Amino acid sequence: MKAIINSQYGSPEVLSLGEVPRPTIKPNQILVQVLAADVTEGDRRLRAADFPGFTAVFGRLMFGMFRPRHSVGGTNFAGRVVEVGAEVTGFAVGDDVFGGVAHGAYAEYLAVSAKEAIAKMPAGTTHAEAAALPYGAVTALVFLRDMAKVQAGERVLVVGASGGVGRMAVQVAKHLGAQVTGVASRDHDLVRSLGASEIIDYTQEDFTKSGKRWDVIFDATEGDHFRSFRAALTSTGRYLTLYMTVRVLFEMAMTTMRGGPRAIAGVAMGNADKLNDVRMLVEQGALRSVVAERFSLEQIGRAHAALEQSRPRGSVVVEMSEAGAPAHHGRAGIEHAPQARGAAVPNCSASVGALRP
Ligand SMILES: NC(=O)c1ccc[n+]([C@@H]2O[C@H](COP(=O)([O-])OP(=O)(O)OC[C@H]3O[C@@H](n4cnc5c(N)ncnc54)[C@H](OP(=O)(O)O)[C@@H]3O)[C@@H](O)[C@H]2O)c1
Repeated sequence: MKAIINSQYGSPEVLSLGEVPRPTIKPNQILVQVLAADVTEGDRRLRAADFPGFTAVFGRLMFGMFRPRHSVGGTNFAGRVVEVGAEVTGFAVGDDVFGGVAHGAYAEYLAVSAKEAIAKMPAGTTHAEAAALPYGAVTALVFLRDMAKVQAGERVLVVGASGGVGRMAVQVAKHLGAQVTGVASRDHDLVRSLGASEIIDYTQEDFTKSGKRWDVIFDATEGDHFRSFRAALTSTGRYLTLYMTVRVLFEMAMTTMRGGPRAIAGVAMGNADKLNDVRMLVEQGALRSVVAERFSLEQIGRAHAALEQSRPRGSVVVEMSEAGAPAHHGRAGIEHAPQARGAAVPNCSASVGALRP
């Protein structure tokens, strides 16, 4: 089968199209014909060995000291089940599925354990839209719902609201009943359409000097900004950062013991339950992905370069041909044909649903 080989760390040019054996599945696994894969900031970090903060060492230990441990790249996908192991229940050949953090998603086929992060695709989404969901949506759910326990009526500030995680964080916070402010230098209309009632352009205004206070600040930018953002938090406020540094872990420990505004850092791990939550939110109309740029598998280097260089106004996905996939049973209205590069896909509008832990 065709796959994108990633045998060394580096710039997008290290990704090359190759042929590898099609995976054979174990009794607890599912074989998925991959029809779309998301190209995320996380994938860029894995490709470039650009692991932030103290994870620089752990990242190399986990993902390969001198070269990538997973020789085929890609982590977030959507596709169709073509084979099911004897011990697998809940999935059948022909099911449309999506998943996250399954190494090897830039390939025509992917073997995934049925207990890993895989779930049935939300009704009414294309494979490209579904592939673009897990990365940001699972992260936003883990941080806002599970770690910060955002309550209805709270004020949530999303810093980096126009980015891959931020777009999902705005929608999840809105779904949880929060009043959402987005901080972004661009795509203000998009961020508003996702649920932000107020926008702060960080190139024009410093929100830490505005005198306003938020219950939760979700920071989806590079770096740990707890010290500078602290003044903008209420006394029971939570600062959430995706960026793991030794300092923020220290701040986390100190603020847990001391009281007052807390710092919270972590890594969002996907699983089937969280993907099912994402599926339900999409089907309720509370969550949607925004696909900005589409490439073929062969154009993976261009896709990574687009993510890095052109600040796409939404997710970048690669789409594969579905020739040979078994006929889909069940839902109507699913659009499978790869679309032209650059075509944005409309989706359901945001609304407040009822999903909570
Ligand atoms: N810990 C975890 O589990 C986890 C999970 C997923 C991602 N991550 C990490 O989270 C980070 C964000 O990922 P992403 O995919 O959302 O990246 P992204 O799409 O590049 O978005 C980053 C955002 O940061 C904003 N930004 C840049 N400088 C800013 C500033 N000075 N003030 C305010 N906003 C600023 C940008 O806004 P404008 O474009 O509007 O300027 C952009 O929208 C990455 O470091 C990624 O590795 C961590």
